[in-house]
Amino acid sequence: MNAVTGLIVADDVHAHYGQSHILHGVSLAIAPGEAIGLLGRNGMGKTTLIRTVLGLHRASGGTVRVAGRDVTHERADRISRLGVGYVPEGRGIFPNLSVRENLIMAARPATKSGREGWTLDRVLATFPRLVERIDNGGAALSGGEQQMLAIGRALMLNPDIVILDEATEGLAPLIVAEIWKIIGVIRASGIASLIVDRNYRAVLAHTDRCVVLQKGRIVLEGSSHALRDSDKLVSCLGV
Ligand SMILES: Nc1ncnc2c1ncn2[C@@H]1O[C@H](COP(=O)(O)OP(=O)(O)OP(=O)(O)O)[C@@H](O)[C@H]1O
Ligand SMILES: [Mg+2]
Repeated sequence: MNAVTGLIVADDVHAHYGQSHILHGVSLAIAPGEAIGLLGRNGMGKTTLIRTVLGLHRASGGTVRVAGRDVTHERADRISRLGVGYVPEGRGIFPNLSVRENLIMAARPATKSGREGWTLDRVLATFPRLVERIDNGGAALSGGEQQMLAIGRALMLNPDIVILDEATEGLAPLIVAEIWKIIGVIRASGIASLIVDRNYRAVLAHTDRCVVLQKGRIVLEGSSHALRDSDKLVSCLGV
């Protein structure tokens, strides 16, 4: 895959927090429609990689391309408008805005012909729980509802890729199952995804390929199917 066909192409990306060198030359290419899992124990740099790709943290070396464009020095809001939906760790919804406002403010018209666009109606049909809450403030929602709102908001952007960082964190099993189902719907609709989740078995089941980060370096990658029986994966994750 080259920089033209890759939806997101990170090439030799480095990142620091102050003097701490966190990402040590990470290269990762995501093709249109591809579902990628990003695995690794706590503190290995998964969120930092995501934030760097999204322009929320400045790379200290290397390049990031999105949709064929060099965005290494681009502003985060411009990168997101290139079609990158983000469901951050901790959800990041606006607590003072209603569910409707949270959704509408993210809206971007569908740009790809041949793919059914995401509209307010379609998002609400996908997340019926949000319908009853449509005029409630974000702060009044349960954790599961907030997570659904965060995913719905990412879809309102009509993204080519959705990046989910710990989307099931701290939620009840029934809600977790619902969220994996939605992730399956997103995948089936042809939207690419980059998924971080503590449940690595669920990640393997919902992705085409996985990469494993250890101390800011990719130490293992392969098809999700092949990694299911990998002893190396188990030792990398310490599970
Ligand atoms: N804002 C920050 N300032 C300083 N150091 C940070 C900051 N954010 C993260 N770090 C450090 O950078 C390293 C990578 O953190 P990061 O959050 O990217 O890991 P992660 O793989 O997402 O972990 P987790 O599974 O816990 O979410 C860790 O050592 C962490 O302590
Ligand atoms: Mg993280």
